[in-house]
Amino acid sequence: MASCLSVLLLLCLALAGSISGQQLSATFYSRSCPRALAIIRAGVRAAVAQEPRMGASLLRLHFHDCFVQGCDASVLLNDTANFTGEQGANPNVGSIRGFNVVDNIKAQVEAACKQTVSCADILAVAARDSVVALGGPSWRVLLGRRDSTTASLALANSDLPPPSFDVANLTAAFAAKGLSQADMVALSGAHTIGQAQCQNFRDRLYNETNIDAAFAAALKASCPRPTGSGDGNLAPLDTTTPTAFDNAYYTNLLSNKGLLHSDQVLFNGGAVDGQVRSYASGPSRFRRDFAAAMVKMGNIAPLTGTQGQIRLVCSKVN
Ligand code: HEM
Ligand SMILES: *[C@@H]1O[C@H](CO)[C@@H](O)[C@H](O)[C@H]1NC(C)=O
Ligand SMILES: *[C@@H]1O[C@H](CO)[C@@H](O)[C@H](O)[C@H]1NC(C)=O
Ligand SMILES: *[C@@H]1O[C@H](CO)[C@@H](O)[C@H](O)[C@H]1NC(C)=O
Ligand SMILES: *[C@@H]1O[C@H](CO)[C@@H](O)[C@H](O)[C@H]1NC(C)=O
Repeated sequence: MASCLSVLLLLCLALAGSISGQQLSATFYSRSCPRALAIIRAGVRAAVAQEPRMGASLLRLHFHDCFVQGCDASVLLNDTANFTGEQGANPNVGSIRGFNVVDNIKAQVEAACKQTVSCADILAVAARDSVVALGGPSWRVLLGRRDSTTASLALANSDLPPPSFDVANLTAAFAAKGLSQADMVALSGAHTIGQAQCQNFRDRLYNETNIDAAFAAALKASCPRPTGSGDGNLAPLDTTTPTAFDNAYYTNLLSNKGLLHSDQVLFNGGAVDGQVRSYASGPSRFRRDFAAAMVKMGNIAPLTGTQGQIRLVCSKVN
């Protein structure tokens, strides 16, 4: 009798789970849109072949999506009469990019399977395919996220960490999303690709002493001290191998060649120095931990089941 009851209980739990739809699954589209993953991969490959930096931009879009209201494609929504979107938030404005690539992929996915694949899932898969296209690790992307019907400028400003943060602040920002300090250090390795604007590393360049002298001198040439001059001038986040997804981000930190303040604080005599050293000497450890942390990041507060919607166009609510 007891075992009969417990079987019933398990059935109920499983049913409740499928109704609220809380589980993401790697095979979510294998029946409903079997070509989805191939279409996304081809779109990412073409974009990255045309401009390697696009891989970095797509990876960052997924991060900026997941940290604000969860991985729900809220970052892709344009401003409307009902809400001001996230694209004008401080960490995003004049900085996040890749919208055309996402729109193009979405149009192709819609042509193959109408209103089936969410924009949030496209961002998650595009992030993985970008990393792979630039030589980084692969992982199975869990799928089944749905798209939000709102976005939040305020949350984008409060929940995305700025480059002025120290280890404690970074750790707290990631903890607020259910990610550990170790995840934070591994995910920061995303800065092995992509670029940053002068305004985001100027204070480090002119005020900090834990910076390699030759590295700083070279950067100063295109990032002058006065605020307002050259604010948008770009420098690679990984000065050694700017478009390869490798562990050079960490070896750079060992020689004080982190570009952002929030990068170099990870190797500055503090608690996470050991993890940085471990990734600098063990590229495969970094690849493994980065992949696992990306899956965790992709699990932040997804909309599932009947929550939200599958947008037809990623920049607007249906
Ligand atoms: C740890 C806290 C983090 C801080 C403070 C931070 C901050 C920044 C800043 C300031 C930029 C340059 C933006 C600009 O100048 O336009 C940047 C770029 C970038 N970030 Fe982060 N970031 C963090 C974590 C992450 C994570 C977790 C990822 C992805 C997993 C990521 C991926 C990227 C990429 C790929 C770029 C280059 C984008 C491009 O070239 O278009 N970042 N980040
Ligand atoms: C969203 O904004 C972008 C950039 O302004 C624009 O190209 C796009 O057409 C807009 N999307 C919609 C649905 O209006
Ligand atoms: C604003 O919200 C109302 C009520 O939810 C909705 O009917 C309307 O279509 C929305 N407008 C826009 C521009 O999204
Ligand atoms: C980091 O957090 C501390 C408190 O833990 C706070 O005093 C400090 O202002 C924060 N730094 C930044 C840059 O926000
Ligand atoms: C450097 O620090 C000083 C004093 O803390 C501050 O006024 C200045 O804005 C900082 N940045 C630069 C680029 O000098």
